[in-house]
Amino acid sequence: MSCDVLVLLLSPVSACMYLWTGKFATKSEQLVGEDLDMDSSKFLAETITPLEELREKPSEMRTKMELLIMEAQADFVQALEALETKSEQHFHVDRWLRPEGGGGVTCICQDGEVFEKAGVNVSVVNGVLPPSAVAQMRARGKQLPEGRTLPFFAAGISSVIHPVNPHVPTVHFNYRYFEVQDGDQVQWWFGGGTDLTPYYLYVDDVVHFHSALKAACDRHNLTYYPKFKKWCDDYFHVVHRGERRGVGGIFFDDLDTPDPESVFAFVHSCSQSVIPSYIPLVEKRASMPYSGEERLWQQLRRGRYVEFNLIYDRGTKFGLYTPGARIESILMSLPLTARWEYMHEPTEGTREQELLEILREPRDWIL
Ligand SMILES: *[C@@H]1O[C@H](CO)[C@@H](O)[C@H](O)[C@H]1NC(C)=O
Ligand SMILES: *[C@@H]1O[C@H](CO)[C@@H](O)[C@H](O)[C@H]1NC(C)=O
Repeated sequence: MSCDVLVLLLSPVSACMYLWTGKFATKSEQLVGEDLDMDSSKFLAETITPLEELREKPSEMRTKMELLIMEAQADFVQALEALETKSEQHFHVDRWLRPEGGGGVTCICQDGEVFEKAGVNVSVVNGVLPPSAVAQMRARGKQLPEGRTLPFFAAGISSVIHPVNPHVPTVHFNYRYFEVQDGDQVQWWFGGGTDLTPYYLYVDDVVHFHSALKAACDRHNLTYYPKFKKWCDDYFHVVHRGERRGVGGIFFDDLDTPDPESVFAFVHSCSQSVIPSYIPLVEKRASMPYSGEERLWQQLRRGRYVEFNLIYDRGTKFGLYTPGARIESILMSLPLTARWEYMHEPTEGTREQELLEILREPRDWIL
């Protein structure tokens, strides 16, 4: 589907987003200053924080992160739309506000020809953290007072793409910024990552994917890729199966050094590496023929994806236990279809077995 069609489809969402033609100056990777312009006219919906308010505080991290995620959402959805061939199928954009503060823009494509289910979710939320959530953060090493509610702000983008063709891998990414206020002190950190879940192993594809992420990391700190690659392998561990969810990528949390601007620049590079890391794999594989058996294997692997998300995923669990959370958005990462079969075990020497071996023993893709 072309970009023009996308604009037509999405324009009813918000007519007033075209009223603002100003540009925000944010920090680029090379220059502390003004060269990164984000044009809000391409956003899929109005920003959650009114533009007027954002314009008053262009250099605040909250503003910069909200603009980053809105832009990343628009860019990624446009890249996916361009690949979706089912003419009447398009992304459904849902902008919602939360009575307690903030809101989000959920963007979903379901039952496409290329994408069985694709979700690209943005949220900008503020409110107060209950003592139980503060306790969870303390357990992770945050210096916060015990037994009190604390004001917080969170802005993030999260996306999961489940394609139809079993030769096209699933991708997931999430980038978020968090602030917690303790008296007149503000604690802040970033977290996120991008990871790939193939159903059939194409070594070149995995190497391409990891190389794009590594390039984004290496621009900021040479220790990032090895550290965050391992963190990803450790995090996406389906412990009860003894398998990783996929072939990994990068994952990090609680990143608060050396300073907000540097971490923001890193997160910006990561978010910009999603399209070049993944879209070429869809282009390459989406029209490959596949058999019913290959589709069945994909469905079984999707079952594992569900097991991970419901049992281990921090974001999903946090969402499910948050009062007033939007369940549909939290569970949008689940595939449309999945399958469980009693004692299914691929035969030796098959491509299914080849994938399992990789998932049981994560390896380095870039030597
Ligand atoms: C997606 O939306 C839900 C609320 O509907 C929110 O709980 C979740 O944190 C959002 N994900 C991100 C990373 O923004
Ligand atoms: C890279 O990150 C490490 C921590 O992982 C830090 O000790 C080091 O100072 C950083 N290097 C640069 C060049 O920022």
